Parts: sequence; structure tokens; C-alpha cells
Amino acid sequence: MNAPILIVGGGIAGLATALAAAPTPVLLLTRAREGSDVASTLAQGGIAAPVGDGDTAQAHAHDTCVAGSQHNNPAAVERLTGDAVAAVEWLQHQGVAFDRDPGGALQLGREGGHDRARIVHAGGDATGAKVMQALVTAARRAPHIHRCAGLDVTGLLLRDGHACGVHALDAYGHAERIHGCAVVLATGGIGGLFARTSNPADADGNGLALALAAGAALRDLEFVQFHPTALAVPGLHSLPLVTEALRGAGARLLDAEGRPLMDGVHPLADLAPRDVVARQVWQACREGGAWLDARGIGTTFPARFPTVFAACMQHDIDPRLQPIPVTPAAHFHMGGIAVDTDGRSSLPGLYAVGEAACNGVHGANRLASNSLLEGVVFGRRLGTLLGALPGTGARHGGCTLVRRGPSLDAIRIAGLRETMMQAMGPVRSGKALQAALRQYQAADGWQGELARTLLAAALRRTQSLGAHFLAD
Ligand code: SIN
Repeated sequence: MNAPILIVGGGIAGLATALAAAPTPVLLLTRAREGSDVASTLAQGGIAAPVGDGDTAQAHAHDTCVAGSQHNNPAAVERLTGDAVAAVEWLQHQGVAFDRDPGGALQLGREGGHDRARIVHAGGDATGAKVMQALVTAARRAPHIHRCAGLDVTGLLLRDGHACGVHALDAYGHAERIHGCAVVLATGGIGGLFARTSNPADADGNGLALALAAGAALRDLEFVQFHPTALAVPGLHSLPLVTEALRGAGARLLDAEGRPLMDGVHPLADLAPRDVVARQVWQACREGGAWLDARGIGTTFPARFPTVFAACMQHDIDPRLQPIPVTPAAHFHMGGIAVDTDGRSSLPGLYAVGEAACNGVHGANRLASNSLLEGVVFGRRLGTLLGALPGTGARHGGCTLVRRGPSLDAIRIAGLRETMMQAMGPVRSGKALQAALRQYQAADGWQGELARTLLAAALRRTQSLGAHFLAD
């Protein structure tokens, strides 16, 4: 029997890879229950694609590179925007019903950094949830996909310098070794390493830590995107997102005095690229707070933005009647495991896709609503590539195991998140980065080692670029 492709992670990138690999057998290894606790499910805005009249892949690529401070890999951007329309069609084929206007045309939203309305969405602001529902259903029906839930992958198996399997712990701490013909890390981002994040706490950089332990190359680690508008709920680590699409629909950011926060800061004002807006909101939060005034959306708010509405009401904020308190939160890692545009890492047999990977498509700052798109475009591409590899039987002997270190305890993880938020937040300084690096210089625990690697990458870049902004 042929060894399966092992895919670690069950978000949009992992599922798109798994579905596209048919009929080659796939074993999908996830920490969480199906479709739950993954960042893809929480995505609100939608999927950017040049489907509107007069829009083109070139215009979408231009906006992607402007947002990315021209640090983008042009080949990856061309692939992303060139395949975007096909990605939307593929999702519809998988069962995603994107929102349409009464005439039947796709409704298009607008978000920061886009020169026009270009975002398809589903269920208003529930795009991630709707997309994941459809892909989880499609994966359940696909006979070539088998799933093992509740597994924490803690190591990689190597034979002759090739990745050939994983080491995992189940919910009871029992260890198992699982062999495959290829290992795909689709483990998502690192938001969980920061004190405030729009990601699930589980998005803790595990895939990055595994690749680091195995000696695979990483790149662009210093570029961490902060979403300017997470709901400011004191004491909460994983914060509800307040989608940028609200600003696309006319909502405005205000400071503590009720003055417009973005006027005169950038020509696109409230719809400036995300790094620019995040810095303004970060500063305003230090000077008394920041609010998003979406009252103009009025009575249509619950129908158009049901996810944000429910989150606000749960915290006794009625966004039809009062501005929403907001704060920046770690949202997306542009850096990751270095891969080519097919998803190959520097370690033979090891692949990465989605937020865990870095093929350079997002440059120094991701354009809004390009992340679900990335998962679909590059996931389908990687799945097709792996599905076409000649089948090999599973060989169980002669492997060496490389493991990430032990986990830090809860108290030390909480400390690490605070340190990372202050040192590697939207506004950084060489001094704060150095102090944080000293703190984690001899840190044990894989999260400490990862923090050290991220901080060292930030220190190596001595000029501001995109999301890496040095105040000094
Ligand atoms: C949002 O809805 O504001 C987030 C979309 C994204 O991360 O691209």
C-alpha cells in the first residue's frame, strides 16, 4: 500500500491541499475538532479576486505589492492574483455560496489597500466560517482523505535527509510515529505568541518550531501583521475581529476626543494599508483609546455584519448606537517556512502552505483578504503536485526523530506573550528588541526558542519596512 501524504493542520490551506491531491491517500492530522479552532474559520472580510467589471489580475497584483512595500516575490504574486478567479470558482464548486445582489451578480466589498471593491464574501462577514463548512464537508466526503483529530505533532521523522513522517502525542499524551510519502505543514500563524491576537490561542507557531528543529530554512520572520481593529475586551487573549469591511462600508476610526484618527495620515485615510492604520490605533490606545464609529451603517448592521454584531452585543456594545472600542491584535505572519511557489521547503520531503509558509507573496505586509485566497491558490497547487508524485510504500525503519523542545508552562507563556506584544508589536525599537532577546537568550521551551528566532530576525532588519516599523 502506498504511504499517504501527511498534512498537519486542518484550515483552508490544509484542506485545499488535501482535496487537490485526489486520489492519492491523505492523512490529515489536526489538533482540534473538524473546522473548529482554526484561524480560517474566524476570517471575516472575504476573498480578494478581480471579478468586478474592468478589474484585472494586474491591478490586484499592483495593490498586493504596494501593501507589501514591494518586498513581494513577483512570481508568487502573479500566481496568486492570476489564479484568484479560478480559486473563487473552485470554492463555489465545493459548495460555497458567495453573497450576491438581487440581480445575481457577486457582491463586492472594499477593504484597506485595494483601489476598488474586490472582495467576495459569504454570509456577510462570516466568509471564513462558510468556506470552512463547505471544505470540511467536501473533505469528509472525499474517499482519499482520512483524518486523525486531537493530535499534537511534536516532531518530524527524517531518513537520509528527507522528511518521512511525524511524531505526535494524542490527548492522553500517548506518542505515535506516523509515516508518509511527504509531510505538509499547514499549521497557520503565530498570533497565539502575542498578548492580544485575532487568531485562536492555538496558532502558536508549532509548524515553524518543527521546521526550525529540523533545520529547514525560514524567511521574513520579522514581518508580523497587526489588525488595527480587534474588539478591545480587557483581559482577553484571543479577541473578536472587527472586520475592515466595516471601514469599506463607511465606518471611521476615532480617537479618545472623538476626532477622526486617519485624517491627514494617508491618502486612503481609514482604508490605508493595514500596517499604517495599526500604528495609528496603537498610538491612540496609548493616549486614551481608539474607537470605530460604524453607526452610519444603521439598522442594516446585524444583517450585513452578523459576526461582528454578535461579538459586540455579547460584550454589551450596540454598534448601531455607540462606537466600538478597538485595539490592534496580532493577526497574520507574512514570514514563515521558506518555500518555493510550489510549496517545497529547503528540506526534501517537507512542504509548507498557507500562513505557516513563506513564498514571499505578501511581502512586508499582507493586503486585506489575500490570506484565504493564498490558502486556496497555493494549497490546490501543492495538492496537485503531491498527487502526481509516484507512490511509495511506507518504510518504517532507519528514521531519526527531531523534536521541538518541551512546552513552556502557562505562566511563562503568558509572560512571553506580553514581551512579544511590546517588543515585536506594531511599533518597535532596537532597544526593546534587544532587551527581549536577552530575556529569551537562554530560554528553554520551544516557544522561547521560537521567540528568540523571531526577535533575532527583527533585530537584523535595521530599517523600517512594511509591518516592521522601528520608532528609533
Ligand atoms: C478583516 O476582515 O478585516 C480581515 C481580513 C483579512 O485579514 O484579510
